[in-house]
Amino acid sequence: MKKIMFIFGTRPEAIKMAPVIKEMEKYPDKIKSTVVVTAQHRQMLDQILIPFDIKPDYDLNIMKDDQSLSQVTTSVLSKIEELLKQEKPDIILVQGDTTTAFVASLASFYQKIPVGHIEAGLRTHNRYYPFPEEMNRRLTDALASLHFAPTPKAAENLLKEGISEKSIFVTGNTVIDALFMILARINNVELDELSKPNSKNELSIQPFNNSTNKLILVTAHRRENFGKPLKNICLALKEIAKKNNDVEIIYPVHLNPNVQKTVYSLLNGNDRVHLLKPLDYEPFVNLMAKSYLILTDSGGIQEEAPSLGKPVLVLRDVTERPEAVEAGTVRVVGTDKARVIHETEKLLRDKKEYEKMSQAINPYGDGKASQRIVNILIRSSKVQGNR
Ligand code: UD1
Ligand code: UDP
Repeated sequence: MKKIMFIFGTRPEAIKMAPVIKEMEKYPDKIKSTVVVTAQHRQMLDQILIPFDIKPDYDLNIMKDDQSLSQVTTSVLSKIEELLKQEKPDIILVQGDTTTAFVASLASFYQKIPVGHIEAGLRTHNRYYPFPEEMNRRLTDALASLHFAPTPKAAENLLKEGISEKSIFVTGNTVIDALFMILARINNVELDELSKPNSKNELSIQPFNNSTNKLILVTAHRRENFGKPLKNICLALKEIAKKNNDVEIIYPVHLNPNVQKTVYSLLNGNDRVHLLKPLDYEPFVNLMAKSYLILTDSGGIQEEAPSLGKPVLVLRDVTERPEAVEAGTVRVVGTDKARVIHETEKLLRDKKEYEKMSQAINPYGDGKASQRIVNILIRSSKVQGNR
């Protein structure tokens, strides 16, 4: 019986770990799994654990309001150490590029416990973009013994860094597994229905002006966009809403106070701009499926939207997810106000351009990444590590 410990702490990690946890539950005779959440996020993490019915065995509850990177790092490092000593897992699994993922890997390395990294190998090759994620994932990959790369390109990045080929497995991204699980559940609730005042997610802060309008879904939360870039994004959205009376902009605002302050001060009360609390995953997927266009600086949304055939404008200067850019559904537009407005209006007005970008493609997976990961973990009699 292998003892496998999942360690994660934020919304996107929970979404991408959930299908792996569920898949592992099918093998109780082969694997004993333990779920540890650092709760680097609190409300936004619980929003995912509940619908996926994941009950953590340990909750480190480390979130502090407006926490610094050093605070997250030190709390995770010290709390995980005790747990690893007590539980002695054979391997820990981390996901992605958060500080939880990197620090849990470091804590495991200190205990000489191997690490499996899900979503290994993503790179922009610029250490400050995204910040601190690019360095978090490089360090996590350096510490890991098993690398579950979502795409061949990600695997190539790892090989170029001298990571042992034996430790790399191209599996697809588990976010597509999560997306497919939720799509199967969705029973096509109309936005009108979701927007009723007593709706769980308070989808409607203001009534929608015209339900036939084109929905532009927006999310933005990256640290490197704090300050002027996020301000530019908001000013661009304000102008798009003002100039185009056939659109509704819907923006579930990340709970980071640095994001809340800027977004609410610049956008609250504008016609056709709807600022919402972060949504549960199911209504969010529903909203993606109903939207005309998505503007985001999120990583996960760049992976999900192409499967839904939704064009994405990426509000960043670089992306570590080039596959959908090459396929044509995702365009990196940066945060310059004029450029964001221009690219958005092009997709609102130019039918051909829109059609080119709205072909459904699945470069990030086929919904079976979790099965592959769990099979590899069951099969590997000993973990083949980097030296
Ligand atoms: C973190 C990750 C980032 C990931 C993002 C996903 C790091 C350094 N950053 O960024 O890689 O893309 O999550 O969303 O690992 N907050 C709440 N409630 C919540 C969540 C956050 O109030 O449920 C507020 C708190 O004030 C917290 C702040 O947001 O201090 C920042 O949270 P933190 O996890 O440090 O960084 P994120 O910007 O969320
Ligand atoms: N998401 C969600 N509710 C929201 C906004 C996003 O469930 O209100 C989901 C989204 O579908 C994606 C993930 O959260 O799977 C992305 O998380 P986030 O943008 O916080 O992190 P990133 O992907 O940038 O690391």
